[in-house]
Amino acid sequence: VSASLQAPRGTFDVLPQDAAARRHVESTARRLLEGAGYERIETPAFEATELFARGVGESTDIVQKEMYTFQDGASRSLTLRPEGTAPVCRAYLEHGMHKLPQPVKLWYLSSFFRYERAQAGRYRQFWQVGVEAIGSADPAVDAEVIVLLHMLLAELEVRDVRLRLASLGTPASRAAYREELKAYLHTHAEQLSPEVRERIDLNPLRAFDADHPGTREVMAAAPRLLDHLDAEDLDHFAAVRAMLDAAGVAYEVDSALVRGLDYYTRTLFEFTSDALGAQSGVGGGGRYDGLIEQLGGAPTPGVGWAAGIERMLLAADARPHPAIPVDLFVARDGDGAAVAAFALAHRARGAQLNVQMELAGRSLKGQLKQADRARARYVAVVGEAGTVLKDMQIGEQEDVGTDADAVVARVLRGRGPGGL
Ligand code: HAM
Repeated sequence: VSASLQAPRGTFDVLPQDAAARRHVESTARRLLEGAGYERIETPAFEATELFARGVGESTDIVQKEMYTFQDGASRSLTLRPEGTAPVCRAYLEHGMHKLPQPVKLWYLSSFFRYERAQAGRYRQFWQVGVEAIGSADPAVDAEVIVLLHMLLAELEVRDVRLRLASLGTPASRAAYREELKAYLHTHAEQLSPEVRERIDLNPLRAFDADHPGTREVMAAAPRLLDHLDAEDLDHFAAVRAMLDAAGVAYEVDSALVRGLDYYTRTLFEFTSDALGAQSGVGGGGRYDGLIEQLGGAPTPGVGWAAGIERMLLAADARPHPAIPVDLFVARDGDGAAVAAFALAHRARGAQLNVQMELAGRSLKGQLKQADRARARYVAVVGEAGTVLKDMQIGEQEDVGTDADAVVARVLRGRGPGGL
C-alpha cells in the first residue's frame, strides 16, 4: 500500500488474530460490571465541540492541543470524542436520568480520539472501557468503582499494578490552595521550565506533572493540596480509604497525583503498571461533582474511571484464547454435490450448529485438510449418492444417507458426550 493509503499515524487495525484477546477484555468487563448493576451506554463518536471545551476544560492539553475538531456541512463545530465522561453526563442530562433511582450506573466500551504524539501504548484512536456512576456523593460509590477496576485488572492479569490515590477537595478549598500554589510558583519562577512558567496562572497544578528537573525540585517542596482540605472532604476521603482497606485493595496516597482533566473534585485515582514503559497509566478516574452543573444541569455528583484496552493488553501476559469451535465442516465430493452441500450447511446453521463449508473448489483431500485446520469436530462429505459423516475426534465414519435433517440430528447427538 502506498504511504498515503496506509492507516493514519497513531491508528491501528484490529486484525482477526487480535480479536480473541479483545473479546476476552469485553466479556470480562461485561460480566463484572453488569454483575454490579452497571448498564451499557454508548454515545456518538462526535459531539458539539463546546461539550468538551466546557466539560474537559479549556486549560487542559486535551482541549488545547489534542482534539480532532471539524465543521460539518452546516458549519457546526464538532469534535471526535477525546474521552467519555462529558458525553455520558450530556446523555444523563438529555434523557432526564435524574428521575431514575440514583446513582445511575453506566459502563461503556468505545474508541476515543486524541491528537497526541504516537508511541508504544499511545495512539490517536484508542479504546477504553469505562464506568460512570452519577447521582450520589456517597464514598461507597468511589470505593465501589475503584474496587471494580482493581478486579478487572486482576482478572485480565495485568502485571505489576499500582494504585495511586488522592483527594482534590471541593472547588472552594482547591481555589484557596491554587492561590497559595501560584504564589509559591511565582517566587520560584526562574527554576521552572518555560512551559510550566507560562501556565502558572492558567494551570498551576500541572507543575506536579512535569519531567523538567528544576521544576521537579521546586515541586518537591511545594504546598500540598491534601493539607488544605476541609473537614468534610477529609472525612469523605477517609471513608473511601476505609472501604478500600476493607476490600484489601492496596494503594499509595499521592498528594502530587495530577490527571489531565479539569472536572475532578475530591477522589482522584490512577492505576499504573510497571510492565509498561513511559505510558504507564492503565486506567484512572475520579469524582466530578461539578461537571453536570457545568454542563447546565442541577448540581449532581458523579464518579467514574476509564481504562485503556491497548494498555491493559500490553501489560498483561499474552495467553491463548480458545478459538470458536466448529461443529461441522461440509465438504463436497464433486461439483455435482455443491448445491446439496450448501443446503446441508444452511440446515445445520439453522439448528444452531457452528458450520463451515467448502468455498474454493478444493480437491476432496484439500477440503479435509481445510476441515482439520478449522478443527472441525465433524466433516460431512456430500456426494451425489449420499453423505458420509466423519467424526474427526474418534476417526470413525458412517454413511448417513441423503436426508439433511438426519445428518444434522446425528451431529447434534454426537456433539454431546460419547460421540457418534
Ligand atoms: P484518561 O486518564 O484521560 O481519563 O484516560 C483513561 C485511560 O485511557 C488511560 O489511563 C489510558 O489507559 C487510556 N488512554 C488515554 N489516552 C490514550 C492514548 N492516547 N492511547 C492509548 N490509551 C490511552 C479519561 O479519559 C476520563 N474520562 C476517565 C474518567 C471517567 N474519569 C471519570 N470518569
